[in-house]
Amino acid sequence: MRNDVDRRCKLLLDLDAKKTILRKIPHALYICGVAEGENVNGFTASWVTQASFEPPLVVNCVKTDSGSNAMIKASGVFSLSFLDAGQKDMAQKFFKPQRRVGNKFEDVEFYLGETGCPIIKDSLGYVECRVVGSVEKGDHTVFVGEVISAGVHRDGNILELSQTGWNYGG
Ligand SMILES: Cc1cc2nc3c(=O)[nH]c(=O)nc-3n(C[C@H](O)[C@H](O)[C@H](O)COP(=O)(O)O)c2cc1C
Repeated sequence: MRNDVDRRCKLLLDLDAKKTILRKIPHALYICGVAEGENVNGFTASWVTQASFEPPLVVNCVKTDSGSNAMIKASGVFSLSFLDAGQKDMAQKFFKPQRRVGNKFEDVEFYLGETGCPIIKDSLGYVECRVVGSVEKGDHTVFVGEVISAGVHRDGNILELSQTGWNYGG
C-alpha cells in the first residue's frame, strides 16, 4: 500500500517545478570541518539550519559518498566555519573531494577546536557540534548536531549561495 502511494507520488511529481521551487530556499555557505584521529578534512556545506533553542541543535546534511561523511560517522563531531561574503574562493577550494585534490587545508590557516575539528581562522566564526542523531534515507545523511562550542572571529556578512552563481539543490 505504502509502496503504491510512493510510486504514484513519484509519477505525479513535476520535476522541473520541484527543482525551481526548492532552489528558492536561501542558503549560506560554510566550511564543515571534520577529524578522525590525526586526519582533518573539510567541505563546503550549504544544507545547514538551526533545529532547536534548548538544547541548541543544528542540522547538517552531508553527502553519503563523501569522505567527510565517513569521518563524521567515525568521530561523532563536526565544526561549521561561517564564510565571509568575500570568501567565494575558499568555498571553491573546499567543494573538491579530498580523495581527488589531497589536503585542502594546505594553504589555509586553521586551528583545532574542542572537538578536534578544524576551524578556519579567517572565517566570521564557528560552531562545533556533537552528533546526537541522524537520518539515513537518501543521498545525504541528515546529522543533528548539538552545539557544544561557538566563537565569533569578526563582524561581517555571510557568503550566500545566491551571490555565487552556483546551485546546490533542487
Ligand atoms: C555550493 C555548494 C554547496 C554544497 N553543499 C553541500 C552540503 O550541504 N552537503 C554536502 O554534503 N555537500 C555539499 N556540497 C558538496 C561538497 O562540498 C563536496 O561533495 C565535497 O567534495 C566533499 O568533500 P570530501 O569528499 O573531501 O568530504 C556542496 C557543493 C557546492 C558547490
